[in-house]
Amino acid sequence: MLKAVILIGGPLKGTRFRPLSLDIPKPLFPVAGLPMIQHHIEACAKVPGLNEILIIGAYSKNDLAQFVREMSSTYGIIIRYLQEFTPLGTAGGMYHFRDQIRSGSPMYFFVMNGDVCADFPLQEMVDFHNSKQALLTIMATEATRQQSLNYGCMVLGKEGEVAHYVEKPSTFVSTLINCGVYLASLEIFQTMADVFHANQQQEHIMQLCCNGRDPAHISFEQDILTRLAGSGRLFAIPVLRWWSQVKTAGSAIYANRHYLALYKQKHPNRLASTSNDSCNIIGDVYIHSSATVHPTSILGPNVSIGPNTTIGAGVRIRESIVLANAHIQAHSLILHSIIGTGTNVGEWARVEGTPCDPNPNKPFAKMENLPLFNVNGKLNPSITILGTSVSLAAEKILLNSIVLPHKELTRNYKNEIIL
Ligand code: GDD
Ligand code: GTP
Repeated sequence: MLKAVILIGGPLKGTRFRPLSLDIPKPLFPVAGLPMIQHHIEACAKVPGLNEILIIGAYSKNDLAQFVREMSSTYGIIIRYLQEFTPLGTAGGMYHFRDQIRSGSPMYFFVMNGDVCADFPLQEMVDFHNSKQALLTIMATEATRQQSLNYGCMVLGKEGEVAHYVEKPSTFVSTLINCGVYLASLEIFQTMADVFHANQQQEHIMQLCCNGRDPAHISFEQDILTRLAGSGRLFAIPVLRWWSQVKTAGSAIYANRHYLALYKQKHPNRLASTSNDSCNIIGDVYIHSSATVHPTSILGPNVSIGPNTTIGAGVRIRESIVLANAHIQAHSLILHSIIGTGTNVGEWARVEGTPCDPNPNKPFAKMENLPLFNVNGKLNPSITILGTSVSLAAEKILLNSIVLPHKELTRNYKNEIIL
């Protein structure tokens, strides 16, 4: 038997994803028509013998309850949400809920960061882990020299063994990075227990929590991976398939495009086509069955249209996500943007953002999760985001801007954050 743990953090995380994460927990933000972590669940449900998924985070139970119910019934496996009373770090939560993970004695369990997206190679990881008798296997990929500093970096010894691991190094270590997807054997809890007891003792000596943190706080990367490197039981499986972090709204557009491309191979029925649907479709497009799309509109490539939306006559949408209940009025144009829930875009309006894709000329380049502002205090060009229930008047132009919820926009805006 196998299990999986999905780490989703809490409301204090995912700040770079605002304003999109103001109304909905970031892990439930829809990418290619499905909540972000449903893609993880779907990948897990395909692994033979995997029959339980534990989602661990600090969001309130109410935020996740309906999603968890729906997922259990859709995939027919046990899915539970375990709430941390305070963020305990990437391993602290797992250690806290260790009895729940260990119950039923699974042979191995996956650990997946909720904020990554990928063509997850889960079965390959099981086969690899088995063949190595590993304690822990890390999914790894290549990054550029410069970008590697933003990730966990590792140096491999013989036969995929991790000889050296450094989390977000300050100087170059290796271009092989940690993808935030692991397969662990149950003995990993012994290593966590050692770290936990060492933390407790340190607290006792200092009469202070370590750096003001909860003494039960354990970082999977800093406390466990670094400790296991060189022990002969930590392995990495380098993967060349598509993988990315989802930290900013720009990376949601990028993830949307790749998940739609995966549908083409794995779920072609989820993609709209000109022959079935009455509007004009270019490339990969997802349209929720409850959306009303005018036959003269042109959608695609890489567009997701959410439930109960209306798309008017002559509308053009490309490389964008339109969330539930939004209304895109006739002849408006939407490029590289995310349109929030219940938002209204007036007739002949133009909403346009700047794509922030990885540099296609650099092999292994990843998304550049740029900060909101550059060194000169100017907004970095990025995709345009309209928050929940925004209203953009007819014939207005909105370029490279971020609009917070419930705004009424009656003039043109360029490179602005509209608070
Ligand atoms: N339950 C819980 N509790 N989850 C947490 C907590 C916590 O206290 N802290 C973080 N997480 C979740 C986040 O929601 C995310 O899914 C994952 O754990 C890792 O988040 P971060 O701690 O922000 O790390 P990171 O994303 O910057 O880096 C990690 O992922 C990279 C790949 O995306 C590291 O594992 C890197 O080594 C790795 O390269
Ligand atoms: P390329 O596709 O790179 O050639 O770009 P483009 O010069 O055709 O235009 P742009 O990237 O600005 O727009 C992409 C698509 O939207 C094109 O198919 C345009 O025909 C269409 N488009 C551009 N402006 C408008 C507009 O104001 N209204 C509508 N309905 N469609 C538009």
